[in-house]
Amino acid sequence: MKAALVEKFRATFGRAPEIIARAPGRIEFIGNHTDYNGGIVLGAAIDRGVWAAFAARDDQQRRFASDQRGAVISMPVNRLEKQSGGRSWTNYPLGVLAAMPEFGLRGPAGFDYLAMSDLPAGAGLSSSAAIELASALVFLEAAGERPPREVVVKVGRHAENYFVGVPCGILDQGVSGFGRRDHLVFIDCRGPRFDTVPMPAGAHFWIFNTHTKHALVDGLYAARHAECMEAARGLGVPLLADVPPAALVVAERKLSPVVFRRARHIVEEIARVDATVMALRRGDLHEVGRLLTASHRSSQTLFENSTKELDFLVNRLVPTPHVHGARLTGGGFGGAVMALTSPEFGDAEASGVANAYAERFGARPDILHTQTGDGAAII
Ligand code: GLA
Repeated sequence: MKAALVEKFRATFGRAPEIIARAPGRIEFIGNHTDYNGGIVLGAAIDRGVWAAFAARDDQQRRFASDQRGAVISMPVNRLEKQSGGRSWTNYPLGVLAAMPEFGLRGPAGFDYLAMSDLPAGAGLSSSAAIELASALVFLEAAGERPPREVVVKVGRHAENYFVGVPCGILDQGVSGFGRRDHLVFIDCRGPRFDTVPMPAGAHFWIFNTHTKHALVDGLYAARHAECMEAARGLGVPLLADVPPAALVVAERKLSPVVFRRARHIVEEIARVDATVMALRRGDLHEVGRLLTASHRSSQTLFENSTKELDFLVNRLVPTPHVHGARLTGGGFGGAVMALTSPEFGDAEASGVANAYAERFGARPDILHTQTGDGAAII
């Protein structure tokens, strides 16, 4: 991939890149919508991601290219405005440039920039966080800035929240930044505090990407965010992570039925993340799988961010031999289902699931058998 990137950079800009960084996509392992509620979450960086290549220019121009789009997009260094249409992918690197001064960091002036990806976009694997982190690393390196990794992660999230305009939590950027092969990333989002937990040997990930996306997905994400904040206000706490599971009985009397369902999902999901960490430390993948599937059921019935396509995949996967558990991964309302399996689960089993899905919905999901991978780095 690196050779292809250098080649494409040369073909596009007529010279070699000076700096290259790569940032991985991520799986949300368990901890659905817990991040912006101040809770805990487990994710895994995967072995696919986004590369960014960079070379400085001295004419105060910035030129952006991507392997996914044909045209080179040029703009002067003093223009840092949100782009739309075919130019909107540049909002990720531009958002990073806009965020850097907020953290006291200098950015580069003029440059040529190329992004390349082997991460399917729109699959709930956070291609946006990956491009943010890869961009942040090349820009920081170019400017001679070496902030702690936690700051790089925050720059990425800031870009997403304030430039792209999605009120996401720290999960995606945190996992892309702190990923480690054969480990899960544990985030206590309140700090935030980042840690890793070893993944027991013999655990495999399979992703089934439905390519479905609710037309209102961004609005629905924001609506869930707002309902969670309403629940916290109704219960007199800053964030739902402050509500212990035992307080849910009282909470039910204080909240509307819909807002209570959202709150219950978050409070119980945080407890499931805790239980998952303990089960992982014991190497009990059976229990981990049970918790993953319980998380999906809670999304389905309480948080209502699942879809009939995602439910079908989970229902088909869970009773399949060698599957520990399955759940939607990411924001929901479409996207992908993740299954945790033992090594005996293979292509034949995965195809069986995909065929059943195709029979029901008329289109095959993409199948991705993935490994955990390392976090964002200059390469
Ligand atoms: C998206 C957001 C994350 C997180 C998940 C749901 O991936 O970007 O911050 O909220 O949804 O857990």
